[in-house]
Amino acid sequence: MSKPDTPASSGIDTDGASNSLRGRARDAISKQPATTVTILSSLLAVQDELGYLPAEAIDEVAHRMTASANAVWGIASFYPNFRFTPPNRHKVELCWGPTCHILGAQHMLQGLLPHLGLNNEGETEDGLISLKLNTCLGVCAHGPAMSFDEELAGHMSLDKAIHLVECIKATDAAITAESENEPAPADQVPLAGRQRSAEAKND
Ligand code: FES
Repeated sequence: MSKPDTPASSGIDTDGASNSLRGRARDAISKQPATTVTILSSLLAVQDELGYLPAEAIDEVAHRMTASANAVWGIASFYPNFRFTPPNRHKVELCWGPTCHILGAQHMLQGLLPHLGLNNEGETEDGLISLKLNTCLGVCAHGPAMSFDEELAGHMSLDKAIHLVECIKATDAAITAESENEPAPADQVPLAGRQRSAEAKND
């Protein structure tokens, strides 16, 4: 697939925000090494950046590769590793490859699913965990293998997996509580509050 003459940034940005999905997708596409840019590489780059492929990303890839949106959808939907809805905040992957299967992945899945309240891979209702089965995490000698927010963990057991899932949840809760307790920036403090503190200083 040849590259278009016009740069991707010449696409129409209907939302205008540089950090919008469309803008982030465009950046991810344009940051690829020029020699390897294809529809597939662009889809992978966007999914790495956003965690999924929104419609805006399909549009941007189509624009960059001078292809139709239908052609891009056709390629994206062919590969099961692409997803079209946002993932939850944390990604947990269990290797489902042959080596890990022999080493106990099935037993781990049977324990993890009820712990997460799931029937199969997917998103937990609390919005925290996305569980995915991976065809091979590439560390077969260390199976059964998992990854937690892209960090590989080998020689796993069900107990270790549940422990690490609970660590992720606890860390997430602590970060959320901390951000909720942070004082608001000065320009977000209600005017009456600022006036009162100024008066207090002048007393
Ligand atoms: S089969 Fe699990 S890491 Fe390769």
